[in-house]
Amino acid sequence: MSRKYDVAIIGAGAAGMMAAFTAGRRGRSVVVLDHAKAPGEKIRISGGGRCNFTNIHAGPKNYLSENPHFAKSALARYTPADFIAMVDRHKIAWHEKTLGQLFCDDSARDIIRMLLEEMRAVHVELKLSCVITEVEKGADGFRLATTEGPILATSLVVACGGKSIPKMGATGFAYRLAEQFGLPVTETRPALVPLTLEPNLLGELSELAGVAVDADVSCGKTRFREALLFTHRGLSGPSILQISSFWREGDEILLTLQPDVDFLETLKAAKRENGRQQVQTVLSQQLPKRLAQYLTDAAKLERPLADLPDKALSSLAERIRRWPIKPAGSEGYRTAEVTLGGVDTAALDGRTMQAKTVPGLYFIGECVDVTGWLGGYNFQWAWASGHVVGESL
Ligand code: FDA
Repeated sequence: MSRKYDVAIIGAGAAGMMAAFTAGRRGRSVVVLDHAKAPGEKIRISGGGRCNFTNIHAGPKNYLSENPHFAKSALARYTPADFIAMVDRHKIAWHEKTLGQLFCDDSARDIIRMLLEEMRAVHVELKLSCVITEVEKGADGFRLATTEGPILATSLVVACGGKSIPKMGATGFAYRLAEQFGLPVTETRPALVPLTLEPNLLGELSELAGVAVDADVSCGKTRFREALLFTHRGLSGPSILQISSFWREGDEILLTLQPDVDFLETLKAAKRENGRQQVQTVLSQQLPKRLAQYLTDAAKLERPLADLPDKALSSLAERIRRWPIKPAGSEGYRTAEVTLGGVDTAALDGRTMQAKTVPGLYFIGECVDVTGWLGGYNFQWAWASGHVVGESL
């Protein structure tokens, strides 16, 4: 005998739990199924364990999608202020770190606890370590074959995320379900991910592993100004993760190190004031020491400033202002924070997240072709899309 529910939700992540208690508050019987042993595992590890749970500036411009208008409705109907109100109600202390990014003061686990309490309050059933082997639509609703027995539900919400971090249980199951029901899926690729370098360049930059610097990083017309980190594999740090969502194989990225500093002026002034100084000494007043050393060595300028023509200083300054690098690739889904692309928004109704051709079937969160920038935007999308589906069930 099947257990019968109004709503079955696949995935006890950010979007699935939000949808569950929103529908539960409206009197719907809801079951959430997850193959993992614990709910909200990505919330737990997010934001370095403190969960960057939203961004107060979140708006449609912070999302990538083949249809940039699609996210507007959900984002407008559930705002960062709405989520903050729930966090405050649960007395979870938080702070703004930078650029509108809100983090828990204590632990990301507080957010998971809050979502579970909200679910419990409206009697949502949560089935963990539950593997779904088959999904079918019949005249009476969606029939799910699971390791916890058969389940029948009037509506099915797919909230099982993307492909990032397979080690944590990401499966791409949402895309297979979309395809099973005839919904198109746009090209998916790892995003918010460190970029790798080809072996020669990596060898050349190896001494910089661990060095972080304020940088402006651009790819085509898109640019982000945040920290950049040199690593043993290539480039990382917030500015690189941001640009990785826009970068494609073969593209060059352009680095501007310490964008607020006019290096030509700095070097010329230092030469005027004390020509006996080494280039590297002057650079290391503005840049990390190892980076200053690398740039000086690479330009072959290990001499006192007085011995160097302005032309040499000018080409060094230009290198710091416009350093082109061609990444070889990315670290892939192993470390990507999100999946770019997903269930084609053209197949969904943006006000309800319902599949246009399959009544009762909904897709929310990361599995949809809506991908946020780094900085709390992806959770805001998960909350907002979860909320609107919960309101429409
Ligand atoms: P999510 O992946 O959270 O949940 C999907 C659920 O479905 C999981 O519980 C999974 O076990 C389950 N599932 C998958 N396949 C299944 C199957 N076949 N059967 C049953 N269950 C299945 N974003 C942000 O805004 N701020 C931040 O600080 C961070 N930090 C961060 C750090 C790291 C390391 C990562 C990897 C990601 C982030 N993110 C982030 C991104 C954020 O975690 C992500 O956008 C959301 O978790 C997406 O929420 P969803 O609910 O859509 O999927």
